[in-house]
Amino acid sequence: MHVGQFEFDCPVVLAPMAGVTDRPFRILCKRLGADLAVSEMVTSNKALFASRKSQTRMNHEGEASPKIIQIAGGDVAMMVEAAQMNADLGADIIDINMGCPAKKVCNKLAGSALLSDELLVARILESVVASVDVPVTLKIRTGPSPDNRNGVVIARIAQESGIAMLSVHGRTRADKFLGNAEYQTIAEIVAAVNIPVIANGDINTPQQAEKVLQLTGAAGVMVGRAAQGNPWIFQQIIHFLKTGEELSPPTANEKADVLKWHLQNLYDLYGEYSGVRIARKHIAWYCKGKKHAAQFRSNVYKLESTTEQLDQVDAFFRSAALENMESVTGAVA
Ligand SMILES: Cc1cc2nc3c(=O)[nH]c(=O)nc-3n(C[C@H](O)[C@H](O)[C@H](O)COP(=O)(O)O)c2cc1C
Repeated sequence: MHVGQFEFDCPVVLAPMAGVTDRPFRILCKRLGADLAVSEMVTSNKALFASRKSQTRMNHEGEASPKIIQIAGGDVAMMVEAAQMNADLGADIIDINMGCPAKKVCNKLAGSALLSDELLVARILESVVASVDVPVTLKIRTGPSPDNRNGVVIARIAQESGIAMLSVHGRTRADKFLGNAEYQTIAEIVAAVNIPVIANGDINTPQQAEKVLQLTGAAGVMVGRAAQGNPWIFQQIIHFLKTGEELSPPTANEKADVLKWHLQNLYDLYGEYSGVRIARKHIAWYCKGKKHAAQFRSNVYKLESTTEQLDQVDAFFRSAALENMESVTGAVA
């Protein structure tokens, strides 16, 4: 499949997640196999472009192409302006957010709330596509609510507007994150349009990725929450899809090296004060399921300096690696 000049063979995509898919995490996921990594959403409100938050979100320094930036908003002129500005700043692909359950941006409907206004969807998509030279992609949910799953109608509008790729989260806006994602509507969307469709929602394992591809006929899969603390999931999915075999999980030492790289890059981007705080949730995700993780988390959450945080992370994973070695040698003996 193609998105503009970019060609993919069944792409495995990192989903946009505000507060998570910042530049360090995108770079990491791409290094560990993700074909595409979508940025956190950036507001289309021009008044906020200069804010530290927007500036950080629009920063793609050192990130390999294709760089995808997601924009959010419900005002046609503002969305056009945001798309043009981000294309000028070096985005290779502009993604439009109609998938996030955020209620309003700038007092206008935004995110998945737009799905109930099909005329407005068409105006936004057509105008943004016409305003930039880079490909424009779209992310949606299956509709506003379970009794109005208009995903197929929106997908046709997207195709007619020149959208280059469509990602679909298998829940409606009203579902929020409740229940399980359903893939039947995604399959109907795939059957209804010729543009590449990426399936999203509850893909937590390579086996689930394969199942969703089979159920939907989608061109690729998008992974969000399952990548938190587990950026290896991309190479694991790709390996499984190619060979039918599972890749071994990373060792405690590999985890420590990746996490320390991740932390260092968070500190570089956000500075010590915010960097240490933003890092905490990532540390907790990487430690999930590990012995003594709860105690370690509560200790590490109290630390205020980058040096202390890095040292504690190093010590925790080194002792986990030692324990693993002891259990292996113990088993052999
Ligand atoms: C913390 C968080 C932030 C999110 N932020 C965005 C966002 O900025 N834009 C968007 O389109 N979707 C956003 N989403 C939705 C995800 O992209 C994805 O569609 C959803 O999590 C379902 O995929 P998953 O089951 O693989 O997590 C967010 C989800 C989470 C958990």
